[in-house]
Order: sequence, then C-alpha cells, then structure tokens
Amino acid sequence: MKAALLHRQAYTPPPPDPVTSPEARAMSLPARARYARDVRRWLNGHYFDSERDRNIRDFLGRLIEDNAETLTGTREVAIIGGPNVAGKSTLLYQVAMAVHRTHIGLDGDPAEMARRTTTRRIAGHDQSVHPTHAPVLFLSLEAATTVGKFNELIVEALDYDKAVAKKVSALDLLLQHGVRLLIIDDLHQLILTEKLGRQALDHLKAVVTALGEYGITVIFAGANLHTHPVMDDPQVTGRAYELTMNPYHADTQDAVRAWQRFLKESGDLLIPHLPLAGPGMLHNDLPGLILARTGGRMQAMVNLLRRATVAAIEDGTWTVTEDHVRAVPTAKLTADEVTNKTARTRQAPRALHPAVTVRPPLKDGAG
Ligand SMILES: Nc1ncnc2c1ncn2[C@@H]1O[C@H](COP(=O)(O)OP(=O)(O)OP(=O)(O)O)[C@@H](O)[C@H]1O
Ligand SMILES: [Mg+2]
Repeated sequence: MKAALLHRQAYTPPPPDPVTSPEARAMSLPARARYARDVRRWLNGHYFDSERDRNIRDFLGRLIEDNAETLTGTREVAIIGGPNVAGKSTLLYQVAMAVHRTHIGLDGDPAEMARRTTTRRIAGHDQSVHPTHAPVLFLSLEAATTVGKFNELIVEALDYDKAVAKKVSALDLLLQHGVRLLIIDDLHQLILTEKLGRQALDHLKAVVTALGEYGITVIFAGANLHTHPVMDDPQVTGRAYELTMNPYHADTQDAVRAWQRFLKESGDLLIPHLPLAGPGMLHNDLPGLILARTGGRMQAMVNLLRRATVAAIEDGTWTVTEDHVRAVPTAKLTADEVTNKTARTRQAPRALHPAVTVRPPLKDGAG
C-alpha cells in the first residue's frame, strides 16, 4: 500500500444522523431509500471495533513503544496469524493509521510532507529527492516473493520508480523516510520450498534485525501461518509474539460471552439508526443464528450486519429480524472452514481473548 494512501485513509467518515421512532414512522419511501443509502455508505467504510481487536491493538501498541524505548538488544516482533478473512489486515490498517496519526497529527498535510527535500546519491550522482515522511509502511507480499520483489514493494510504497530498488538499499530508504513501523502482510506468500523464497526470508530477517537496531518495530501477518514452514524458523519465532485471530465460536462460556459482547457493541452502533430495535436486537435475540450464518468470521459478520441493517431501513421494519438475517446469503468461506482447521499439532498459545491467542517468544536462546 502506498504510504500516501494510508495518510488519506487515516480518518473515518461520520455516521448519518440518528432517527427517532416518530421520524422513522413518518418517513416516505424515497426518504427511507436515501437514509438506507447513507447508512450503507457509512457502514461500508466503517471499522467494527471489538474487545478482541482492542486487546491486540493494545498489545501491539505496547510492543511498538517498548521497542522504541529499549536502547539495546534484539527487538521483539509480532506475527498475526489466523484463517482467511479473520480480519487480520483490517486490524493492522487500524494499527497503521493510529501510529501514522501519532507521528503526523490529524491535520498533517501530505503535500507539506512531500516538500521536505534532501539530497541523495543515486547511481553516482547527487539528486534532489522529496521523501514523504512515512512513519508506517504497510507491505503486502505478493505470490512467490523474492528479494528483488520485496525491495520493489518498499520502493513503490514510497512512491519511487521500481528501478530505484536496484540502486539504493531498502534499509536506507526506510530510515530516510522515517519509518517507525513496518507491517509485512501476507507472509504466507513466501514459498520456502524454493531457493528464491528462502533467500527472500533471509533478506527479510536481515532487514528486520537492522531495523530493530533503530528501535523500529516489524509486525508480520499472514493466513494460516501455523501450517507454514516460516513458523519452523527459530530466527523468526525466537523473538516473535505469535498472535492468532480465530473466528468467534460458542465452544466455551467465555467464547459465548465474547461473541455476545461483539454483537452488543455492534448493536449499540446500529441501534441509533434503527429506532424500533430493542436494546438486545443482536446479542440477545439473534446470537445463535448470526453465528451459524457467518461461522464467526469477520468478513461474513460485517457483511451480514451491513446488509441486514440496510434492509431493515428500506422495508420500514427499522429493526433487524430473523428474516433479515436469513435473507443475507451465507459466505462461501464458511464451508471451507474445516480445511483451515487441519493445523499441525502445536501447543496452544496463551489466550488474550477467547478469539485471540498469543504465544510469547522462545526464551531458550533459539535463534
Ligand atoms: N473489524 C472489521 N470491520 C469492518 N470490516 C471488517 C473488519 N474485519 C474484517 N472486515 C472485512 O472483512 C474482509 C476480510 O478482512 P481482512 O482482509 O482483514 O481479513 P484477513 O484476515 O486479512 O484475510 P486474508 O488472510 O485472506 O488476507 C475485508 O474485506 C474487510 O473489509
Ligand atoms: Mg489479509
């Protein structure tokens, strides 16, 4: 992701005004359609926060601060795992934006940032460059990432021409642009059965180690990493907190409560726009049905909540009912879930939240 794009996205549009039940009852069909459209637009850009995500963000926030404050020694990294569409990348965008904001400020102007000019030696010549201050770099690895492709990702995220990757070191670029947090998403794209993939991992580890010397934090994420050989590398796991984002489920009392708390928080967000809803619309009235329809996966849940809410406004019910929930098509991935559960037998990490587990780094000197 381009560093400048992150800057533009680091704010969220406000929700439409709430409606009262008399206003809702009096609303004409076209007015309802307009209101439903506004709610849809808002929800399409809305990040559904939860205790699960707050726990992870707090954890990562502390890690970033600790790494920046520690003077010497190896910096710790975090690896976020979990099945597809669990919400890993979405959560990391939030982390990225928060760190970005703390460094740039809410009113930071991208044009102003780009005006800082320095001179750099490229291909034997002094050249004037305009480095964008990019406190956070968010890279998504591509299929079969190689050293060259990884460097190109960095260069492109910072808005240079791809060719620059061959002329300057990725590390120098990261430092020059003031990167404090490097997020490397889709780590599962490293193919370690191939030489180029193993070289890419070695390069990545070298970059991470070098960044650590400057107190810069690296966060990795990827789908189903627990089954990926990258997790067998003690140099990766030896200094990494491994966090696993699992789908919500109802296997234990704690898990049920976490699920209901998520639904309550989402309901509290939606109810001002659904004035005929009772206070327990989602978490008391529909928890089992919504879990069954979504498999507890963020993508399916968010999609269902958006669509059911919009439908409830459009049809004038002004509260989400069982019918609305059933009318949303179930996500295809729910059926594939079973395949993702074929994990290698590893000892279960410590639970940070029923839907999040964390495994601390190995302290036995591995790596
Ligand atoms: N908290 C959330 N609020 C709103 N939308 C979300 C949230 N979490 C996930 N989503 C939506 O669900 C979809 C999948 O989420 P995301 O891409 O973050 O999953 P992922 O775990 O990174 O999956 P993958 O491993 O396939 O990359 C996204 O399109 C995103 O819009
Ligand atoms: Mg992702």
